[in-house]
Amino acid sequence: MKRNIILMGPPGAGKGTLAKQLKESLNLVHISTGDMFREAIKEGTKLGLLAASYINHGDLVPDEVTIGLVKERLSKSDCANGFLLDGFPRTLPQAVALQEMSKEISRDIEVVINLECDNAELVRRISGRRVCRNCGAPYHVETMKPKVEGVCDLCGGELYQRKDDNEEALKVRLGHYVAETKPLLEFYEKLNLLSSFDSLVGKEALFETVKKYLDK
Ligand code: AP5
Repeated sequence: MKRNIILMGPPGAGKGTLAKQLKESLNLVHISTGDMFREAIKEGTKLGLLAASYINHGDLVPDEVTIGLVKERLSKSDCANGFLLDGFPRTLPQAVALQEMSKEISRDIEVVINLECDNAELVRRISGRRVCRNCGAPYHVETMKPKVEGVCDLCGGELYQRKDDNEEALKVRLGHYVAETKPLLEFYEKLNLLSSFDSLVGKEALFETVKKYLDK
């Protein structure tokens, strides 16, 4: 089974949703740089203040900050059994740094899962997304409603709308994706690590297909 995995795709493609499903079923550590920044923002740390000044407008947090954060997290012992990187790398310097750090700690990337989704669907997903303030579980006001409105099915936490889930910030996020992150698909294609999947098939069908592929 493939264990050291990168999940890629534009904002709203379903990286976080799929990561949470795979994490449970394959017992992997889920490393989401977006979640790490949002946690730091919630706690009001120095990193959180810095991250908020970028994230809230849809901009990328500087490479040196993000690379340092991931390096520290990946070297922890719980990653030895395998990890899912969600939202990292997003730029060429991050991808190069990841190649170096994964060699250093003998945890080579084994596969890059790319989720494909058209722009109209991304806008629909992002504008209707709600997230649990407590456990981070994602919902959608039309397609993935919680049992009780505004309350997380899993932990009872409050559901909220992310500050960067608005039309203006989404335009900026999509712009960064096209200019800085999408070119990484070629980088990983050349390393023979890339596999793409259609995220429009729905949450459960996508999970089953990717899980089968990783199990091979
Ligand atoms: P991050 O949190 O990584 O956001 P993102 O990449 O924009 O991705 P999203 O979380 O918006 O979407 P997703 O693909 O996880 O979709 P989800 O599963 O939630 O990063 C946020 C910010 O942090 C960045 O903009 C940047 O500022 C900063 N940052 C993070 N990493 C960085 C880095 N490496 N370098 C620099 N800065 C960084 O699903 C979306 C919706 O669709 C949900 O409502 C869900 O219910 C629904 N849905 C999901 N899957 C499906 C499906 N298969 N079918 C139907 N509906 C689905």
